[in-house]
Formats: sequence, structure tokens, C-alpha cells
Amino acid sequence: MNTTFLDACHSKTTTYTPVWYMRQAGRYMPQYRKLKETHTILDIIRTPELAAQVALQPVDVLGVDAAILFADIMTPLIGIGVDLDIVESIGPVIAHPIATLKDVEKLRTLEPLEDIPYLLQTITILKKELKEKVPLIGFSAAPFTLASYLIEGKPTRDFIKTKSFMYTNTKAWNLLMEKLTNLIIVYLTSQVASGVEALQLFDSWVGSLSESDYQQYVLPHTKKIFESLANKNVPLIHFGTNTAGLLSSFASVPCNVVSVDWRMSITKSWKEIGYTKAIQGNLDPVLLLSDFSVIKKHVDTIFASLPKKEGYIFNLGHGVLQTTPVETVIRLTEYVHSKR
Ligand code: CP3
Repeated sequence: MNTTFLDACHSKTTTYTPVWYMRQAGRYMPQYRKLKETHTILDIIRTPELAAQVALQPVDVLGVDAAILFADIMTPLIGIGVDLDIVESIGPVIAHPIATLKDVEKLRTLEPLEDIPYLLQTITILKKELKEKVPLIGFSAAPFTLASYLIEGKPTRDFIKTKSFMYTNTKAWNLLMEKLTNLIIVYLTSQVASGVEALQLFDSWVGSLSESDYQQYVLPHTKKIFESLANKNVPLIHFGTNTAGLLSSFASVPCNVVSVDWRMSITKSWKEIGYTKAIQGNLDPVLLLSDFSVIKKHVDTIFASLPKKEGYIFNLGHGVLQTTPVETVIRLTEYVHSKR
């Protein structure tokens, strides 16, 4: 088993820099697009053999150092019966968005064995297939990012409904965050029990908050998630985008790795995070649409800026874009592996 990724999560010395990519399984891959001709993404997620097959594709095609479970951040909400769909080119759309305290009170708890058996079966298959290859990363969205979909009902750029709910309906907001926190802890614990070897918490949209609002409305809940998982013996990764303004608070949770986007350099980010934690990131995914010589220059800049090599995991600052050439991702992986 290639433990380079896990070692880097624990800030141990590795012989090369481990690489994986957010959204490494997805529509930029012809194998995935072929499957999507006959299956929706939710079909794939609910069919363990297919979900496992999709998660394995990047391991075989790209040569990455970790696999990530194929699911969506909406999976635990589907598990508790929230009526939603993942609409092509839009993303998650919720039939009845949350608007009142009563809506929050109606959210029930998750029973993984009954509510998401397919996900646990996918992990079982993947563990068998990955045995001598690479570790498997499990994941969940963080409470703020999940709440934003539940309240907005669909992807948004400005988070007006979410933040208004947070500011004006604070009692309901706190209850929502508590319920999502418990849901996420149960969800991630079930993934570890089934065999995932690392966990990433995606707080993709939390960068829309000021640092003081983050501290007041979000951090205590996210912190509780990391504290609850600290004894599971798997490295914990905290991912966000646009977090430059709140990075020290964002990094203050008991996680092993902080994942940052391209808006702030690794040098500055790592200094703020603290060198006892590992760091993951941070190439702009848009760069993968350019000539390889340009990509190389940016990768070189990242490597030249690293204050140390232990505890660095190469990734993009956000997910692989749909129009990315697979060949570019293969070359990038090789190039990062070739660097010391
Ligand atoms: O390879 C992997 O990274 C694992 C699979 C994965 C998916 N979604 C599959 C997926 C992961 C880790 C996610 C997480 C996810 N989903 C996040 C957090 C990461 C991030 O990007 O910030 C978010 C915000 C979502 C919600 C979501 N689901 C969006 C915004 C979209 C894109 C909509 C579109 O069509 O452009 C989805 C759909 C989705 N989830 C796709 C995939 C491969 C693409 C659509 C499809 O295949 O039907």
C-alpha cells in the first residue's frame, strides 16, 4: 500500500510529494461521461459497483496517491429524506428549502445502516480493490456549506438567504447547525467504520463570511465535528475556498491538514495555519486549461515557495473543471511526482 498521502497528512517525511485532486472522478473523464449517458449521478452513487468503478478510474488513469469515495455532499441529506435532485450543469436543487424554525425541527437523524447502505457497500468494495494501491478518503460537507444549499435551495453566489437566516433567525440557525453537526458526525463515523482511511470536510462556501461571523455562527459547530472524530485514528482535512480572510480561525480546529485555494500563497497560508499542521493545495484549476509550460511554471512557483517539504500535499485549490484535458492531469501528476 502506498502510504505517501497518509504520511504527508501526519507531516512525516515522504520520498515524493503526494497528489490527489478534488473532483478527480467526474465529467472531464471520458469513462465517466460514457456512464452518464445511461445513469444519473444519483443512480451511480446508489449503485455500489458503479460508484466504486468511478472512484477507481482516477487511481488507474492518473496515478494519484489517494482515492476519494464517489458520492456527493448531498448524500447524507438524501439519507434523511430531504427531497432534492442534482441537476445537470446547475448542482443540488432542494424541493422545499428551509425557511422557518419549524422546517429545521422537522430534520431527522441519520441511521447509516438503513439510510445509506449503498454508500457503506461502496466503501467495502473500494477497500478490497484498493488494498495494495492507495488509501481511500471519505468526506462530508461542513455545516455551513450544507446549510447554504438547504436554505438557498440551489447554488448561489451571494448567500443572501443563508446569511439573512443566520442574522435574523439565529435561534433556528443554531438549531440547524447543531442538527447538521450531529448528522455529519454520524455520517463520517459510519464511513470510518466501513474503512475509509482519511476524512475531508468540505466547507466550500464558508469564505463568504467575515472572520468574526465565522467565529460566532460556524466555528463552534465545525470544531465539535473535528473533536468528535479526533479519536478515530484517521487524518482529518479541513477544506475551504476564499478562506484567506478567516484562515487562522478556520485552521484553529483540531485537524491534521488545512486545504487552501490559490488566492493566497502557500507561504503566507502555512505561516498563518502554523507549521504543526500539514497543508494541501493550491493550484488554480483554471490553469489546467492552459499550455503545459504555463502549468509547470506555476507548479515550480508553489514548490519554490514551500517553507518545508514535510506535510505538503499537492492538490488544486478547488475541483477539476469539466473541460480539463485528461492528458494534462496525467502530465501534472507525473510532474509533481518528479519534483523533490
Ligand atoms: O472525485 C471526487 O471528488 C468525488 C466526488 C464528489 C462529487 N461531489 C461528485 C459530483 C465530491 C467530493 C463532491 C463534493 C461536492 N458536491 C461539493 C464540495 C466540493 C466543491 O466542489 O466545493 C459540492 C459543493 C457539491 C455540490 C455539487 N454537486 C455541485 C456544485 C455540482 C456540480 C453541478 C454541475 O453539473 O456542474 C454537483 C454535481 C456533481 N457531484 C458532479 C460530480 C462528479 C457533476 C455532475 C454529474 O456528474 O452529474
